Amino acid sequence: MTFPLPPNATIGIVGGGQLGRMSAIAAARLGYQCHVLTPEENSPAAQVSCSVTLGDYGNRAVLRAFAGRVDVITFEFENVSADGLELLAGLRPVRPAPAVLRISQDRIAEKTFLNRAGVATAPWLPVRSFGDLVYAAEKLGLPGILKTTRLGYDGRGQVLVRTEAELVVAYEELFPKPLILEGLVDFAQEISVIIARGAAGVMVAFDPVQNRHREGILDLTLAPAPVPDWVAEQANAIAHRVAAALELVGLLAVEMFVDRDGRVLANEIAPRPHNSGHWTIDACPASQFELHIRAVAGLPLPHAPRHSDAVMKNLIGPEETALWPEILATPGLIPHLYGKTEARPGRKMGHVTRVFPRGALPGSFGIADALGPLADQQI
Ligand SMILES: Nc1ncnc2c1ncn2[C@@H]1O[C@H](COP(=O)(O)OP(=O)(O)O)[C@@H](O)[C@H]1O
Ligand SMILES: [Mg+2]
Repeated sequence: MTFPLPPNATIGIVGGGQLGRMSAIAAARLGYQCHVLTPEENSPAAQVSCSVTLGDYGNRAVLRAFAGRVDVITFEFENVSADGLELLAGLRPVRPAPAVLRISQDRIAEKTFLNRAGVATAPWLPVRSFGDLVYAAEKLGLPGILKTTRLGYDGRGQVLVRTEAELVVAYEELFPKPLILEGLVDFAQEISVIIARGAAGVMVAFDPVQNRHREGILDLTLAPAPVPDWVAEQANAIAHRVAAALELVGLLAVEMFVDRDGRVLANEIAPRPHNSGHWTIDACPASQFELHIRAVAGLPLPHAPRHSDAVMKNLIGPEETALWPEILATPGLIPHLYGKTEARPGRKMGHVTRVFPRGALPGSFGIADALGPLADQQI
């Protein structure tokens, strides 16, 4: 298969979640078919795709069968084995490359890569023994956050450590997994930038957005982030630098902290569509999902900045999902549901977007108001 992919070509998506679902919807609009690989029956992505291979990501026969059905492969799920992706890459083009996934899967590889690329992060040290942890705590000072290097998401696999006594407790909770201790950043806000990069090196980024978490899970995204231009420029420059250094072909989210002095530090990278970019579906001519598919398919990446400001609120767990009828009845709320059957606590079931004329994003109270039935869910 040659690039650009012609209409009706098949894009293989590894992973069956909502990121795959919204990517598949964007792909369909561009005239592509999607084929999903997931172990889950009736997954959010498979519901809106042409076909699915049901099977385990680690099973070689399953991976081969999947590759045989598609023209190009991408992923929406980071915890697929990078070795599995390597196998796929021997059979079909995989975008982004497995090497990019490998970096983002491991906090030590990720932070080493960022620092070598000249991008500042929270101070950090690897922890492979209790002795390492004591040394790291001395070097970095407390408070800090002890994190597993792999498989963390939505704040899982990490423990805040304020005192020496808490060091022991955190270590007992997370050991024997490989760990990393990070200094706690006293951030003024959390922001992210989503950037697409094509094979020829063209890059297109969305403006930085602000992310507000509840219990470690993204709750609200405000687009644009309320930061001065010079802060937004640092964030934008970091995203470009990281995407270029990774030689990315695809889409990348960079999560960042803005400290009290306005200095921007990178926290995490995710080489896939990101929850903090869902607002782009409703507020931009081309969403993050469309840019993802365009980059993977080798289509042009036009710069198409947002036509509207926006706030995105996640629908998490049974309580918020129960508000669906009220959400549907509220003018101006743009509803998105992911087709998941069971609303477990902490599970992302959907999201709601509200758009405002460009430049007219209200402050926190106005945003709470604008979210109607979801206003009560705010802090
Ligand atoms: N070094 C740090 N300093 C301050 N807050 C942090 C730090 N690391 C993580 N956090 C907080 O925890 C959240 C989740 O951490 P993150 O590293 O992004 O892991 P996850 O993979 O779970 O998203 C961040 O969004 C931030 O609010
Ligand atoms: Mg994160």
